[in-house]
Amino acid sequence: MRIDIITALPSLLESPFNDSILKRAQDRGLVEIHVHDLRKYSENKQKSIDDYAFGGGAGMVLTIQPIDKCISQLQSERDYDEIIYLTPDGDLLNQQISNQISTLKNLILLCGHYKGVDQRVRDHLITREISIGDYVLSGGELGAAVLADSVIRLLPGVLNDETSALTDSFQDNLLAPPVYTRPSEYKGMKVPEILTSGNLKAIEDWRMDQAFERTKLKRPDLLKD
Ligand code: ADE
Repeated sequence: MRIDIITALPSLLESPFNDSILKRAQDRGLVEIHVHDLRKYSENKQKSIDDYAFGGGAGMVLTIQPIDKCISQLQSERDYDEIIYLTPDGDLLNQQISNQISTLKNLILLCGHYKGVDQRVRDHLITREISIGDYVLSGGELGAAVLADSVIRLLPGVLNDETSALTDSFQDNLLAPPVYTRPSEYKGMKVPEILTSGNLKAIEDWRMDQAFERTKLKRPDLLKD
């Protein structure tokens, strides 16, 4: 998979991809991440990328020219499956959407800023709009990092234990069951006995029960379907 991220603040995207699972995925050649500085695509003298909104109103709006130039250049090099704009009024990200996006090959993520982007970008250049939650961030960069993380960990070979993404919370509309590690007793707090019983079938049943109980308690909305 290849992910191109277009942003006015490229430095914000340096650290999320340079550690742990996301770094390993790149080192293994399972994903390529390219961050593009929007300012480099501006054709005016000041290299500006934003302007006042027509009709007035507070806040600056990202202009269409540098975004169009960057997207066009990328599209001249390869075909893209989706061009996603991160915005609080997009479709709310969930595991199902991440699963679907993880099957794609080439992806552009456009990060919004200020008061957003010129609507013509959304109407003509973007294929999909995604929000990472019902709150407003200062820009789309953290949203792009969240989306990329949730997608990259699903790519075959990224996680060491192939089954581990499948047992994530939400994969089957259930929250993950509790987990414990050594010591089996700490300051009087004991690990449930069943987990040290060695009875794999009973452990599997217990985990399923716990996942169901946890979901019923914390996220009953997930059980509706
Ligand atoms: N940009 C600003 N807020 C956002 C959100 N909640 N999701 C995605 N992109 C955003």
